Amino acid sequence: MNDKRIIIFDTTLRDGEQSPGASLDIKEKVQIALQLERLGVDVIEAGFPVSSPVQFEAVESCSTEVKNAVVCGLARTLEKDIKSAYEALKHATRARIHTFIATSPIHMEYKLHKKPDEVLKMAVEAVKFAKSLVNDVEFSGEDAFRSDPGFLKEVVAATIDAGAGTINIPDTVGYAIPSEFGEFIRDIMENVPNVSKAIISVHCHNDLGLAVANSLMAIRNGARQVEVAVNGLGERAGNASLEEIVMSIDVRKDFLDFTTGINTKEIYRTSQLVSNLSGIRVQPNKAIVGANAFAHESGIHVDGLLKKRSTYEIMTPESIGLTDMKIILGRHSGKHGFKKRLEDLGYMLSDSELDAAFERFLIVADKKKEVFDEDIAAIIEDEIHSSPKYYTLDYFHISSGSSTIPTSTVRIKLGNEVKQASAWGDGPVDATYKAINEIVDIPIKLGEYSLRAVTEGTEAMGEVSLRMMVNDGFVITGRGASTDILEASAKAYVDGLNKIRHRNENHNAK
Ligand code: KIV
Ligand code: ZN
Repeated sequence: MNDKRIIIFDTTLRDGEQSPGASLDIKEKVQIALQLERLGVDVIEAGFPVSSPVQFEAVESCSTEVKNAVVCGLARTLEKDIKSAYEALKHATRARIHTFIATSPIHMEYKLHKKPDEVLKMAVEAVKFAKSLVNDVEFSGEDAFRSDPGFLKEVVAATIDAGAGTINIPDTVGYAIPSEFGEFIRDIMENVPNVSKAIISVHCHNDLGLAVANSLMAIRNGARQVEVAVNGLGERAGNASLEEIVMSIDVRKDFLDFTTGINTKEIYRTSQLVSNLSGIRVQPNKAIVGANAFAHESGIHVDGLLKKRSTYEIMTPESIGLTDMKIILGRHSGKHGFKKRLEDLGYMLSDSELDAAFERFLIVADKKKEVFDEDIAAIIEDEIHSSPKYYTLDYFHISSGSSTIPTSTVRIKLGNEVKQASAWGDGPVDATYKAINEIVDIPIKLGEYSLRAVTEGTEAMGEVSLRMMVNDGFVITGRGASTDILEASAKAYVDGLNKIRHRNENHNAK
């Protein structure tokens, strides 16, 4: 790899999934991993296998499905973590074990209760053990930026000698200032004698809103791998955003003379997929992928744009794959046309999934006449579930108005059985959820309810995302889409209940 090529290490599925409120099941993780591969990321950190059976299975499934990118699993410097990561990764075409231990005084003293020499020994032993299992090993000194620079350099040198090919320097708590972080990396590049035998990576958190700036300064000072997440997801304020770093490199080639393997035209689709599946919406003014990122409001700006786009536009919407909405299909386009469009959009479905999606498409096409790419994405995300459909919404009738008590009658299919219930509530959604609760007795607490129109116009499909919490603290996202927002609300609730039941059954089986 040439010296100007920046390795994009994506941690959406690991650190990103640690975002408060994010929840992804295994099938959703695989779907994101395949899209990340299409986007062109070099490394996909798929999870932390030892932390739970679901994490293990997710890393294992990504390992078998991903063909080109390196698949990486996280492990503390403990033998059981490293063994678990190896087991989860062993079918990957290219596997990486990422092992880490904290190196800052505060973490070593209060969290680990260990002296620096013990931490150094654990780091070296972990890297050696991981290296005996896979060839590609990454080591991270957690909270590296707040570590003593002398001790950190000692750890970096020793872990390179032990066989780590990548050394990651995280700013775990997002404390650094760009010029300072650049100098921190330069010091490592200039003063660790064996540094040329490894790639130096950075992993910046966004607590002060500086994660992208810090990562870019690190690149200018010698780092050749950046750890990023789509839409900037991650612990607390998140990780450096993939799309912001990639587009900074792309747009400011004059200042950042580097390249990445990213196909920027896949950025928008990836962002939408991650937002839809994780249930974490992108803020409208988010750089690159926010709804307003290419919207121009002021008359002066619009006038300038019409005269020459570059007056107010430093990159084109097309460069991130954001094209004008196209009317792509109608009722008469046929299954063949539908399948072809799905393939163009990057969805690979099995025959039975295609049949189910096509049936939904015909219903939507009847109601909407014009079906946009965004509608298709909503249909697919609504239709393709990993959880078995224990419950399906069979029928609902809602009565609501300014002077009526909102009431709802719902019929749910449970296998061959059909159950019906009615309830009243504060509003039509509340009444519907109460009626469903009469039929499906799974205690949950409803967190966030969010509704968005998938496209513009009053006949647009509505997509509802719900955060549902189970007693033991487990959180899932229920989703539903329909041209009728009350139906979308009911479907999202039933989807969530299916996921919880699936999870409960697997949980109890273990
Ligand atoms: O923020 C951090 O330090 C991490 C490490 C595990 C790399 O996520
Ligand atoms: Zn992190």
